[in-house]
Amino acid sequence: MVFKSANSDKNKRTSEEIYRQACNVIPGGVSRNTVYHKPHPFYAAHASGCYVTDIDGVQRIDFANNMASLIHGHAHPPIVEAVIEQLHKGTAYTMATEAEVAFAELLCNRIGGFEKVRFVNSGTEAVMSAIKASRAYTGRPKIAKAEGAYHGTYDFAEVSQTSNPSNWGDITKPNSIALAHGTPTGVLDDVIVFPFNDIEKTIAILDKHAEKIACIIIDPVPHRVGLVQGTPEFIEALYKWTRKNGALLVFDEVVTFRVNYGGAQEKYSVRPDLTALGKIIGGGFPVGAFGGRTDVMKVLDPRESKVLFPHSGTFSANPITTTAGRVAMELFDKEAVLKLNSMTNIAIRQIEDAVKIAGVPVSLTGAGSMFRFHFTAAPPKTYREAYQSKELVSLIDELLDFIYFSEKIMLINTCACMFSTAITQKEVDRLSEAMLNGFRFIKPMLEKIHQKTI
Ligand SMILES: Cc1ncc(COP(=O)(O)O)c(C=O)c1O
Repeated sequence: MVFKSANSDKNKRTSEEIYRQACNVIPGGVSRNTVYHKPHPFYAAHASGCYVTDIDGVQRIDFANNMASLIHGHAHPPIVEAVIEQLHKGTAYTMATEAEVAFAELLCNRIGGFEKVRFVNSGTEAVMSAIKASRAYTGRPKIAKAEGAYHGTYDFAEVSQTSNPSNWGDITKPNSIALAHGTPTGVLDDVIVFPFNDIEKTIAILDKHAEKIACIIIDPVPHRVGLVQGTPEFIEALYKWTRKNGALLVFDEVVTFRVNYGGAQEKYSVRPDLTALGKIIGGGFPVGAFGGRTDVMKVLDPRESKVLFPHSGTFSANPITTTAGRVAMELFDKEAVLKLNSMTNIAIRQIEDAVKIAGVPVSLTGAGSMFRFHFTAAPPKTYREAYQSKELVSLIDELLDFIYFSEKIMLINTCACMFSTAITQKEVDRLSEAMLNGFRFIKPMLEKIHQKTI
């Protein structure tokens, strides 16, 4: 389906025109593939709370929140004020700042597994640094990760992120599949892939490499695996395995930190040795952080006679990010987390009603303030169950376009919602109404796909 832009003012430049210019200087015209949109991406003009207006003059309700990173929506006044005050004092200094210490203290007080923390500039960097710290601490080369899990763009972390039926191999020994063409085979050899939430198979796979594994990295509610929660039994089994075999357990809570006040880890009986954070802790600015046990984090300590993991970063812990992040997290207190989660639950219930009214095979998975749609009656339990055929992917694109253009609502491009505290019942009602319309729109196409696969 091709939709027309709403801009009728001839003097204003349209998204289409800017995109043409962008294609001359940026590959594919976009700086990140997630914002690419057919026939062209849309350019933001301004945003406030949970509403974003593009330069074509169309306002949309935002349930994507810059890929789950804006926990208070756009331009939240207390964050804006604090950042402006800091901007006048400078943005980065080749010196440490009080802002970073205050923010580090907040995170260490808040997260059970954090004794020490370091800031970086993205979730990718946080995951990479946690992996490197694990290697430095254990002196081992390999990592283990769940098939399909997204952990950012570090070579090792992205292995088997998009494995598919033609290459994923037997489930008892999933293949390590490169994402980027040209990934060295050495990288693939050092990444052990296991099936999420399958204790027996995972332990058998890990056992084969026991002496070489530095860490197991796990996202407790991995989006690409289906936004399915890690069972307590599975997480405990991973933890026990690491204790027995001298490896570390690393949580990737770049997205899931929003789930509870102390992150998704709060609900498990075991604590990770290290945790990677990002997204919401930046208050809208680029951020990452990794933290955990003091003895492990010591590998970074410049006072040691031998620094096992030398680590720096030009903009790491800059005072703009640490100020914005601190204010955002102070406002995202225990009460705000619970309130946001219950608003999300209301939305889920209303959408489940819409699914029934429309009579479509759609299910929802998620945790806390995030949920994802699946186009099967029963929610998937594994990456291989959640895997979508080309036909299903194009149907989801049709639905996303319908919701974006006709209903004026932005979702995450996997068909997921990441709520912000700016969302009220009014926007939830609009979302459920829009989804009902969307389900009715895709119903005939969805039925055809299901008939073919039966
Ligand atoms: C679970 C997870 N880990 C790591 C990352 C990487 O974060 P960033 O995009 O800030 O590099 C992401 C980004 O979406 C993520 O979802």
